[in-house]
Amino acid sequence: MQADLVIRNVVLNGEPGDLIVQQGRIEEFVPGGTESVQGKEEFDGQGFFLWPSLIDVHVHLREPGFEYKEDINSGLKAAIAGGFGQVMAMANTNPVNDSASVTEFMLEQARKFHPHGPFLHPIGALTRGLAGKELSPMAELARAGCRAFSNDGLPVENNELFRRAVEYSSDLGLKVIDHCEDVSLSEGGLMNEGEISSYLGLKGIPVVAESLQVARDILMAAYLDTPIHLAHISCRQSVELIAWAKQKSIPITAETCPHYLVWDESRVQGYNTLAKVNPPLRTRDDVLALQQAVREKVIDVLATDHAPHAEFEKDVPFGEAPNGISGLDTALSLCFGLVVDGVLDNDDLIRLFVSAPSEIFDLEANTFQKGDVADFFLFAPEAEWEVRPEAMFSRGKNTPALGQKLRGRVMAHFLRGRLVFERAI
Ligand code: DOR
Ligand code: ZN
Repeated sequence: MQADLVIRNVVLNGEPGDLIVQQGRIEEFVPGGTESVQGKEEFDGQGFFLWPSLIDVHVHLREPGFEYKEDINSGLKAAIAGGFGQVMAMANTNPVNDSASVTEFMLEQARKFHPHGPFLHPIGALTRGLAGKELSPMAELARAGCRAFSNDGLPVENNELFRRAVEYSSDLGLKVIDHCEDVSLSEGGLMNEGEISSYLGLKGIPVVAESLQVARDILMAAYLDTPIHLAHISCRQSVELIAWAKQKSIPITAETCPHYLVWDESRVQGYNTLAKVNPPLRTRDDVLALQQAVREKVIDVLATDHAPHAEFEKDVPFGEAPNGISGLDTALSLCFGLVVDGVLDNDDLIRLFVSAPSEIFDLEANTFQKGDVADFFLFAPEAEWEVRPEAMFSRGKNTPALGQKLRGRVMAHFLRGRLVFERAI
């Protein structure tokens, strides 16, 4: 038999074998390998793990408007090299993605530079201009291709407006992703409020600025019996509220980011603007609570909150630097480090980066069953690499991981059975 593509001697779920692909779909994984199938194209996967392409439900690709930080082309390059086959892009561009023309422009740029993927799913603004005053034209945005709505970056304070946004969004079959922050509590804050902020003389952001809004969203989701997805959860108190909500079967889902699982507030010491992010890196205790929450499925999803900025913007006094960590290039290796350390296992990562996001946002994903989309990559689990600006595909080099040695690397990435990225060694 002849197949379009065969990946030989690759390890899937701990078992070596051959993967067979036909017409962009998974045909079969044959444990132990097969000699009776030849591929029109063949790749040797010896020494590599086979992983389904990851889905990132929270990135900032900066185009239109801030192309000096990142554009759709460079952001999608970083995505594919980082293991992501699909990304959902936030609306805080300029102009804001609150009209069909912006959504269509983003989709066109993605298709123009990456016709074979990775695939971009725009997220529409919840309110016009993200100003929190009136709803955006949500039906128009949904028709144009938005896959969710969010005011990420600028949280919605008006509860009545937020309620209507959740209701309209649900009528359109899409979810609201909420950035949980009570701005009156966080205003002027630069890092986590606690001993280190006092020591550094920086105004703090208390955890209650987040958990108060988490509580509001949980109560709203319960009252409306409508799902709400919580973005970038950063602290124990929020985790405890989400656990309570899930016990009560309230339709809440939540994400955290690799940076909240691996770093705490001490990274800010020395006024390190690369560790300045919103919500801020919290305490060691919060890190441990989040690690447990992703293991125990209290937190459903890992998303990068990829927030690239230019070097000159971060190379300023701490108070003036913008918030954000560039995440697409390093997310998988940072999380694989947690697997190496025994905090998580590979199945956790696949649930957090593939199955849960695919279910919550109704996106097609590969589970290596016959007929699934052949979106996968070859991962070198032993490869060690140092995070240097030149090693990153994103235009934003702003990560506390710079200079750090990480384990595990994407070596080749296939979407719909077609090779779209191969790392030059
Ligand atoms: O750190 C952050 N950066 N948090 C946000 O909510 C927005 C984001 C950005 O757009 O840079
Ligand atoms: Zn964000």
